[in-house]
Amino acid sequence: MTQRVAFVTGAMGGLGTAICQAFARDGHKVVAAYHPQYDDKDKWLAEMKEAGFADFVCVAGDVANWDDCVRMAAEAEAQAGPIDILVNNAGITRDRMFAKMDKAQWDAVIDTNLTSLFNVTKQFASKMAERGWGRIINISSVNGVKGQAGQTNYSAAKAGVIGFTKALAQELATKGVTVNAIAPGYVATKMVMAIREDILKSIIETIPMKRLAKPEEIAAACSYLASDLAGYMTGATLNINGGLHFQ
Ligand SMILES: NC(=O)c1ccc[n+]([C@@H]2O[C@H](COP(=O)([O-])OP(=O)(O)OC[C@H]3O[C@@H](n4cnc5c(N)ncnc54)[C@H](O)[C@@H]3O)[C@@H](O)[C@H]2O)c1
Repeated sequence: MTQRVAFVTGAMGGLGTAICQAFARDGHKVVAAYHPQYDDKDKWLAEMKEAGFADFVCVAGDVANWDDCVRMAAEAEAQAGPIDILVNNAGITRDRMFAKMDKAQWDAVIDTNLTSLFNVTKQFASKMAERGWGRIINISSVNGVKGQAGQTNYSAAKAGVIGFTKALAQELATKGVTVNAIAPGYVATKMVMAIREDILKSIIETIPMKRLAKPEEIAAACSYLASDLAGYMTGATLNINGGLHFQ
């Protein structure tokens, strides 16, 4: 496999960690973009070293902030070289029924989960097109595909991720750059483990496979989408949800 340079946002979260490890196993160089207030870089790097991954470049910033993204991209390129693979993975939830949702909860989720795609992808997409090879992978959600009560903000942002993916895929189709989305179901990460135990139990009951996804099962799809042989797939949304929803 050709060695590429990958930039992963939300890299120190549950899914991000699995994606960084999968890319490292594939032989790629990985830039782990993290939020300096939410993530503990030193602890994460120590855990990665312990697990046999010693070679991650780290850049810190808020994906909802344009200037941070400009700076993170420059730092990443200076330390690791041109970025070939981008995974827009950082995300948050601020769940509330619409009647009770306030503007701050709406804005936080739209800015972090959707506007971030503009902020981060802008740093790399044109350069990938100029070099004639690139992979952009956007993490959506089953709840962006089917909608979910209590998540008007999150469902809107994650549906927006799919629209963004389809539009940019068309723009870059002749340039060797593919743009795809992954819509995971419920994955065993901090985000899901934060759900109240009885509610999580009832969610798992509704999943035909009666279990959560392992982060590695989502990361494997990133490995595929980042590969040379995925070159004919673009604008797609891969639904990986244990049978919870068929599009
Ligand atoms: N866990 C699930 O069940 C599930 C299901 C579908 C989709 N997703 C999506 O997968 C992605 C990863 O989620 P996860 O489950 O690993 O959650 P997580 O909470 O473990 O990780 C999210 C990461 O994003 C980072 N982040 C949050 N806001 C940020 C910001 N403004 N700037 C930079 N980094 C920021 C956090 O620091 C964290 O490391 C998210 O986009 C999430 O919406 C998760």
